[in-house]
Amino acid sequence: MKKFIITGGAGFIGSHVVRRFVKNYPDYQIINLDKLTYAGNLANLKDIENAPNYKFIKGDIVDAVFIDELFATEQPDAVIHLAAESHVDRSIVSPLDFVMTNIVGTVNLLNAARYHWKGEYDSHRFYHVSTDEVYGTLGEHGMFTEETAYDPHSPYSASKAGSDHFVRAYQDTYGMNTVISNCSNNYGSYHFPEKLIPLAIHNITQNKPVPVYGKGENVRDWLWVEDHARAIDVIFHSAAPGTTYNIGGHNEWKNIDLINLLCSILDKKLGRAEGESAKLITYVTDRAGHDLRYAIDAARLKNELGWTPSITFEEGLEKTVDWYLANEEWLNDVTSGHYQQYYEDQYSNR
Ligand code: NAD
Ligand code: DAU
Repeated sequence: MKKFIITGGAGFIGSHVVRRFVKNYPDYQIINLDKLTYAGNLANLKDIENAPNYKFIKGDIVDAVFIDELFATEQPDAVIHLAAESHVDRSIVSPLDFVMTNIVGTVNLLNAARYHWKGEYDSHRFYHVSTDEVYGTLGEHGMFTEETAYDPHSPYSASKAGSDHFVRAYQDTYGMNTVISNCSNNYGSYHFPEKLIPLAIHNITQNKPVPVYGKGENVRDWLWVEDHARAIDVIFHSAAPGTTYNIGGHNEWKNIDLINLLCSILDKKLGRAEGESAKLITYVTDRAGHDLRYAIDAARLKNELGWTPSITFEEGLEKTVDWYLANEEWLNDVTSGHYQQYYEDQYSNR
């Protein structure tokens, strides 16, 4: 039986990765290591929490001693590393939190792997989950390939770029077996409503203003989260050591067009007159350093490992909206308490 540590497994994408591995690989022992920050929620994993091949451990990747002891006790065969501070707006307010978790936390994991897997690097894999934001921003044309030079602009993307560089440095310097993937914007169930799509769904259903940064002309390339989890599965099992794969759905949307689409879907689902929800759209001060456009060229992943998205954006968005409408209790839980203060701080002066 192989034992894997998945970090950040109580978060949005991590919970989908954990669920996929627990369900699809009964002969793997899956340890979900998560600090349970505001973004981590064990309710995201209710359906598999009692599975015989699943265990949750609460812990902080910034704590090097704890991480070293965890490796000594559990002796994992692999790490799939998703734990991170992930929200760009929060990184603008508190950059150091991002340096600590995203860079120091990643280096702590690499150090533990380097020490505990020494002499056996070939049979132990360190998979680092990263983002397309490390590549910076595009103009109206072109796409990010795996060869695009890093050019991060936000404290979040700078910290993710730093962590990617450390992973490559451990591959090149110590000969560790690492893989990195850089994915575009995800959407789907269990997405924390500080991010655009779940925030818009939440506000529309609550009849609250839907904040659009700047002119709403920024473009993001959206991928259904379960397709990201499947890509991670494929890459984890098939990629050669030291390789990088971009993951994306060739699905670019201007923010304002996406929000108008959500308004129109929700008008129908909530029995409102067409155009009613769009009246909630409110233009607010732009995000500082706001990247204009992201677009991923995922040809390497398709050509070498055969991965393509499994569903269209229309199908994925429909499923997502339905999930939020059916899971009001989850949404109410995560938007109570500290969330109210965050929302107030984030949006009151925009
Ligand atoms: P998220 O914020 O929903 O979840 C992050 C998880 O990490 C949470 O469960 C949190 O409790 C945990 N965590 C945070 N700090 C920790 C620490 N110090 N120690 C242990 N656990 C800690 O994030 P997400 O959107 O699911 O993103 C997961 C990963 O995927 C991140 O590395 C992110 O950079 C990357 N990514 C995200 C997207 C996206 O669209 N959301 C796209 C590409 C890549
Ligand atoms: O590209 C991958 C990245 O996607 C991940 O690495 C990040 O972890 C993830 O948070 C996401 O970053 P973005 O900044 O693109 O996502 P966000 O949902 O915060 O914003 C999407 C777009 O919508 C962006 O152009 C900013 C805009 N926006 C966002 C919010 C929260 C608004 O117009 N209004 C809002 O209220």
